[in-house]
Amino acid sequence: MRKAKPAALAAALGLALAAGVASAQTIKIGFITSYSGLNGNLGPYMERGARLYLKEHANELPPGVNVEFLIRDDTGPNPDKAKQLAQELIVRDKVNLLAGVIFTPNAMAIAPLATEAKVPFIIMNAGTAVITTRSPYIARLSFTLWQSCYPLGQWGAKRFKRVYTMVSDFGPGHDCEDAIVRAIKESGGEVAGTVRVPLVNPDFVPYMQRVKDAKPDALAVFIPAGKTATAVLKAFGDLGLANSGVKLIGPGDVTTDEELQNMGDAALGVLTVHHYSAAADRPANKAFVAAWKRDYGANETPNFVAVGGWDGMAAIMYAIKEQNGKLDPDRTMDLLKNFKDPNSPRGPISLDPATRDIVQNEYLREVRRVGGKLVNVELETVGTAVKDPWKELNKK
Ligand code: PHB
Repeated sequence: MRKAKPAALAAALGLALAAGVASAQTIKIGFITSYSGLNGNLGPYMERGARLYLKEHANELPPGVNVEFLIRDDTGPNPDKAKQLAQELIVRDKVNLLAGVIFTPNAMAIAPLATEAKVPFIIMNAGTAVITTRSPYIARLSFTLWQSCYPLGQWGAKRFKRVYTMVSDFGPGHDCEDAIVRAIKESGGEVAGTVRVPLVNPDFVPYMQRVKDAKPDALAVFIPAGKTATAVLKAFGDLGLANSGVKLIGPGDVTTDEELQNMGDAALGVLTVHHYSAAADRPANKAFVAAWKRDYGANETPNFVAVGGWDGMAAIMYAIKEQNGKLDPDRTMDLLKNFKDPNSPRGPISLDPATRDIVQNEYLREVRRVGGKLVNVELETVGTAVKDPWKELNKK
């Protein structure tokens, strides 16, 4: 009799645990992003953005439902690593969703796995236009480079006679170059030259010298956000391009909010087109930035990667709520296609049901010093409810 007691207790405990597990529904999100390697500081912005959304909206989760992030480091642009992580998350951890990804090559490597396993994949950064066509299980809550670079080219052609482009030599760089060159040619402007620089550890000085010699009116640069942006600004400043009459322009990656204070005065006056600025005075953005500073520190500033994480999590939350916590992959995709938020920190957003790509505004911004800090001041809205122009221009 005595011996049976602990066993009975253990059995009862086991039952209780099983009951607890059965009534609490856990949604597992396999979260793949970059914490090391090239611009490895960007991953934490994405993760913190997603976690902050979840925290601020935790009371909207259906009763008994909770969300677990399985966080993985893809170590920068590393498609083999990203694929291996996605495989493990799908097969071993049995995640309900995949999310994250800073770099295009990684998103491309994960796409076929999402299709094969029918696991919805919510992209929170990677911006090459073609990515969403690689799997019907992808929804993108970030941006495409065509969305910023095409209106940038249209605006730039009105303001500058000759524009030179400089881009990182990989998918999003090629998209940005194509978009600017196309927009300038359509507007009857002149492309002074184009150059592609290596993605990893480029020395910008010789490239900047080449641009200086060509004497364009503007230099449009795309590089991945993070430390690479600061390296561009440093080379631009050191070679005195601004003083020789070259205006630096680009999509917002080149004046990414988290690096502005490291860039110093070389960033002053740089004009960019982008969907998000931490300095935007929309009430939804003010609330977002205040929550960020409250949780992560008064000196911390979110960037567009953080907003990708925030809005990506908003879309996931919508799919969870609508299905009462029981996720079916095809139903999830149907719901995501109709996701809308009139009040994102970046302004109104929605997903285009035809492409599963985000539709959003694009703002012209200028780096100015405000209250002692460099910020991207939004000057005007250059595009309203912009769909990915690459897909619009290549419609059959
Ligand atoms: C991308 O790989 O698609 C990418 C990376 C960094 C950016 C933008 C796009 O700032």
